[in-house]
Amino acid sequence: MLKKNKLYYPGKELKNKAWVKNNSIYIKGGKNPIKFWGELAKEILWFKSPKKTFIHQPPYFKWFVGGKLNITQNALDRNLKERKNKVALIWEPEPLEEQSRILTYYDLYREVNRLANALKRLGVKKGDRVGIYLPMLPEVVISMLACARIGAIHIVVFSAFSSAALKIRLQDTKAEMLITADGYYRRGKIINLKQSVDKGIKGTKVKKVIVVKRAGNKISWKKNRDLWWKDIIEKEKDECKPEVMDSEDTLFILTESGTAGQYLQILHTTGGYTVQAYITGKWVFDFKDEDIFWCMADVGWATGHTYGVYSPLLNGVTFLIFEGAPDWPNPHRWAQIIEKYGVTTFYTAPTAIRMFEKYNGKISKKYKFESLQILGSVGEPINEATWHWYFQKVGKGRCPLVDTWWQTETGGILITSLPGVGPFKPAFTGLPFPGIKFDILDEKGNSLPVNKEGNLVILPPFAPGLLRGIYKSPKKYKKTYWSQYGNKIYFTSDVAYKDKNGLIRIVGRVDDVIKVAGHRISTGELENILSKHSNVIECAVMGVPHEIKGEVPIVFVVLKKKMSLEKVKKELIKKIREEIGPIVKPKEIYLVEDLPKTRSGKIMRRILKRLFTGEPLGDLSVLANPECIDEIRKRILSKA
Ligand code: PRX
Repeated sequence: MLKKNKLYYPGKELKNKAWVKNNSIYIKGGKNPIKFWGELAKEILWFKSPKKTFIHQPPYFKWFVGGKLNITQNALDRNLKERKNKVALIWEPEPLEEQSRILTYYDLYREVNRLANALKRLGVKKGDRVGIYLPMLPEVVISMLACARIGAIHIVVFSAFSSAALKIRLQDTKAEMLITADGYYRRGKIINLKQSVDKGIKGTKVKKVIVVKRAGNKISWKKNRDLWWKDIIEKEKDECKPEVMDSEDTLFILTESGTAGQYLQILHTTGGYTVQAYITGKWVFDFKDEDIFWCMADVGWATGHTYGVYSPLLNGVTFLIFEGAPDWPNPHRWAQIIEKYGVTTFYTAPTAIRMFEKYNGKISKKYKFESLQILGSVGEPINEATWHWYFQKVGKGRCPLVDTWWQTETGGILITSLPGVGPFKPAFTGLPFPGIKFDILDEKGNSLPVNKEGNLVILPPFAPGLLRGIYKSPKKYKKTYWSQYGNKIYFTSDVAYKDKNGLIRIVGRVDDVIKVAGHRISTGELENILSKHSNVIECAVMGVPHEIKGEVPIVFVVLKKKMSLEKVKKELIKKIREEIGPIVKPKEIYLVEDLPKTRSGKIMRRILKRLFTGEPLGDLSVLANPECIDEIRKRILSKA
């Protein structure tokens, strides 16, 4: 790799073998994006080719209109020709003493078809919603693909979410079937997942629960409702004809946090998502037959859907999934996994990289990481120091580092540098993916020049994999994405700027959504949860910087009756655990007499945040109650 004014370029060897070697692809994609994507779609197998590439009926749009396909035909059947006995999936369990599981393309094909047949026999039809609440086991991949095989819509729920979070997702989507496990390993302990299911499905429409036996823990069982996975697939045939899906038929729903505590049941359709998942993986990770790809994200998040499952399969590569935590039972675990399997392409989040960085000296000296060829980062801004650490200590200065920007809504990567082209610039995500048009606008909608921060938007024809709606909620869809600049401009809710080369740097979100260890959480959602506590009058939650997790929430609470800080903390943390799960523990909780407010009663979260970080508070004349500031400052300083 050469170093040139802080811009890095790929080495000759990588450049020569890359799918994309030079800038001409950007010119081609920019000239006529619709034609460009239309051409790319031809690399996918269609039962019936699309008649028209793009139709725009703002704020709705369609891609590959009239096309018929099934994503599993592309992910599985297609690979049987040349890769029948090639390893598709490697599963690394958390316990060190346990054997890994290896599934070839043919194994995976048969397992998917068996489950697909079983689902059909149990009454699941095209368009039905199926909840999947599974940890990182091969069965989670099989379940998603089995749904897609028969045209059922999968709703994967992160297994670390609580029963209450599961319930909301099942209720909102009216799923009648759920696939889960008895339990799983997390940091040496067995988590009883079935217990959360028994609680979470109360008050939902779920009639059948399929249970994978993983940890062998004791679980309660409801006859006629609960079914063992093993039993239901036992007699099923290993052939199942793929359902013919229209390009615009829904493939899956994934819930995300929107602004003000809203849940967004994000809808993705089949044709556009398939094309984008396939081509972004091929070009950004430069997928080749000999690759071993490890995307560390849990399948409960968008990254786990697109790059943990669909994209590697669509490209016929071998991919790895890991049940445990990357630093368990020791901080070397992630590095050992890379060496054990000879991982070539490693895709993870800055929060994990910062955790690896903590053990810098020991690990980076011990491991040579000779198999690695490309590194990826996703989910939050990666700062310069961490970028350099990852690039030098893990990639040993020879692996291109692709920082990839996207959102659950975009279905796949939309901004990054391509590994065979570059340039890679620390803390900048890169250029818009070929065929995608971005702009950075001021509040009035004027396009901003180089180095000026503004709102990041996507212009028509958007992206084939961009969401098509919020499940049964057109109003939320319009308001969230298509109201700031009219119905022809997609608003990302991110602030960004570009440098003179057009490389984009993401500054952060403009709404109340924060990123805790890469997970998207709305502070409004947390406030709603905390306000349910009978002794809370009002509260304010905001994100503050954290050295490992990127951001963490802090909480200011006004109580009705006196209560000890210790007790309040315990009860509020329990409440969050119950409603969301253990992933968003607040860093600090402060009990205060009053919260700073404007005369119209709006809580000034900005001032609270600055009090915490010690930045200048700015103009306080907007406050109706400036006298509360001193008391809050004292509480922060004394942590009382
Ligand atoms: O703020 C951006 C940040 O994550 C948001 C999307 O979150 P989520 O839907 O959970 O993402 C799932 C798949 C990535 C974005 O609006 N974000 C994502 N990638 C980056 C990023 N911020 C900076 N750099 C990135 N590479």
